[in-house]
Amino acid sequence: MKTHTLFFSPTQTGATIAKTVQNALETEAGESFDITKTAIEKTFGADDVVIIAMPIYSGRLPPIGAERFNAARGNGAKAVAITMRGNANTGDALLELTDLCTEQGFEVIAAATFIGEHSFTMKEFPIAVGRPDAADLQKAADFAQLIQERLHTEGPLAPPAVPGTRPYKDAMNPPGTAATGTNPENCTRCGLCQTFCPTGAITLTADGPQTDDSKCIWCAACVKVCTSHARAFTLPKIKEIAERLYQTCQTRQKPEWFLAQKGN
Ligand SMILES: Cc1cc2nc3c(=O)[nH]c(=O)nc-3n(C[C@H](O)[C@H](O)[C@H](O)COP(=O)(O)O)c2cc1C
Repeated sequence: MKTHTLFFSPTQTGATIAKTVQNALETEAGESFDITKTAIEKTFGADDVVIIAMPIYSGRLPPIGAERFNAARGNGAKAVAITMRGNANTGDALLELTDLCTEQGFEVIAAATFIGEHSFTMKEFPIAVGRPDAADLQKAADFAQLIQERLHTEGPLAPPAVPGTRPYKDAMNPPGTAATGTNPENCTRCGLCQTFCPTGAITLTADGPQTDDSKCIWCAACVKVCTSHARAFTLPKIKEIAERLYQTCQTRQKPEWFLAQKGN
């Protein structure tokens, strides 16, 4: 049995948790399918376990993440569905991810929500900074032990009962306005923002990076990879949201998991 990871993870917190779970399992390590920048056509099989991670955007999956995941087919593979939250609301995202897994032919044996540094974190409004931290990674390893037990359970398993309701809450509208901009004085033209943008919204020109309003999904990948701190949130609305979250979401939230149960 091989365990793979598959993730849409613009700021890498989901990728970190998926890989930690993979490493803690006593199965042969398989491949990493990073669908952050592009969909990957892949059909798994009954001998595969796939650790799937996606962020929560406004209580749902990011539409482009769900769309890219659609190129994967389970074909009887076991799935572990993980959503990442920035210490705020979880909404219906985990239910949405487990539903997609089932529709695409995976058998969901476990599901979880872990916490990652909120994409909108800024110096004046820190939210879940540095997470997943050492305690979260330990939790991911603990979760892996429970998954391991499920892999050895004989007979059919009833799917995990995850939080969320159908029909799901409305997904975030495509923003239509870029959230980030570049301070030309700090920009070194390294191009990392262009390389890491999941939607190809950034083009490095002679005048520095230019952002396509229609493609930006506000994910913060460009902000987090910018080593010269030239790239930052410039849209006032993001600052308002970050301030509100800073005021309301400081209590440390813990990872939660939901396991498939032995059926009758
Ligand atoms: C547009 C947008 C909406 C978000 N909405 C939520 C949310 O509803 N609840 C929450 O807890 N975190 C929310 N977050 C924070 C991310 O889910 C969190 O930072 C996550 O760890 C990012 O995952 P990644 O590092 O794998 O990209 C949002 C982030 C973005 C960019």
